[in-house]
Amino acid sequence: MIDTSPSPPHGASAPAAHEAALLEVQGLRKSLSVADGSMLEVTRDVSFSLRAGEFISIVGPSGAGKTTLLRAISGLIPIDGGSVTHRGVAVRSVPDWMSIVFQEYNKSLFPWLSVRKNVLLPVRKLAKADADERIEEALRLVGLSDFAAQYPWELSGGMQQRVALARAMVSRPELLLMDEPFASVDALTRTNLEDMVQELWRNLGFAGLLVTHDINEAVYLSDRVLCLSSRPSRVLAEIEIDLPRPRDRHTRAMPEFHALSERVLSYIEHPESAGSEDLPAAYPTNPTQPPADGIQTLRKKR
Ligand SMILES: Nc1ncnc2c1ncn2[C@@H]1O[C@H](COP(=O)(O)OP(=O)(O)O)[C@@H](O)[C@H]1O
Ligand SMILES: [Mg+2]
Repeated sequence: MIDTSPSPPHGASAPAAHEAALLEVQGLRKSLSVADGSMLEVTRDVSFSLRAGEFISIVGPSGAGKTTLLRAISGLIPIDGGSVTHRGVAVRSVPDWMSIVFQEYNKSLFPWLSVRKNVLLPVRKLAKADADERIEEALRLVGLSDFAAQYPWELSGGMQQRVALARAMVSRPELLLMDEPFASVDALTRTNLEDMVQELWRNLGFAGLLVTHDINEAVYLSDRVLCLSSRPSRVLAEIEIDLPRPRDRHTRAMPEFHALSERVLSYIEHPESAGSEDLPAAYPTNPTQPPADGIQTLRKKR
């Protein structure tokens, strides 16, 4: 069985949540070289912190550099300046406490491997019995126990993204990064996948970091939404999402849900109007400072 106790799934020897932010991003800068040999400044100054067990989204217009930011945070590409730290230690290359789900499941899943073998990849170094148990559990969590022997291309888009979620869950990550994970599926499937992610997050205790251009999705899933400017990107605002949990279709009908979505949209559409109440000055500058709301409180809210 998956451990659903309050300690982080991988955190047997990790410090308590209040000792340091789970993930701290400070002044991250990243430029990419483009075809003519010049440098494109994508990310100018992004800072935020993520507490253990928290769910935050980063929303910004297309081309703002969300994918680049996520790749830089995960160690897939090097950063030019600033820092990314996990419990106070610099993040380099993709660490085993982190899983990533990308938008394009058809590129991230291996078509020549069965569903089971795709999910096996992150745990292939475990003893066979342990790996088998993890795979069974991960497939059960996403409702695909009966599809282990199929190939990804035999499944619908939504099911393939569930395979990607199972592969992300099988290593029992402390942090799940998601890059527009539901952008390539139809609206109804998308809503179901959002609810599935919420359920996984509530039951398994990982922290979530979602980048998306979909404001409603960000508000629906998150404890906080960070609004990103267009390129070169910086954080314009941080908005606390205090909607009750668990969230469901009734949440989407609440006036508060619409008011929060409008507030996020106002920053994306009119960045110059960033109000002082939402300015990201509230980020802890000292990562050892106790967070206002620790993992226990977050868990109660779930
Ligand atoms: N590998 C790359 N090399 C050069 N430029 C890139 C590369 N990837 C993305 N870009 C450019 O960087 C900018 C930000 O891209 P991206 O991070 O994909 O934005 P988003 O995910 O917010 O849509 C875009 O203008 C894009 O064209
Ligand atoms: Mg992108």
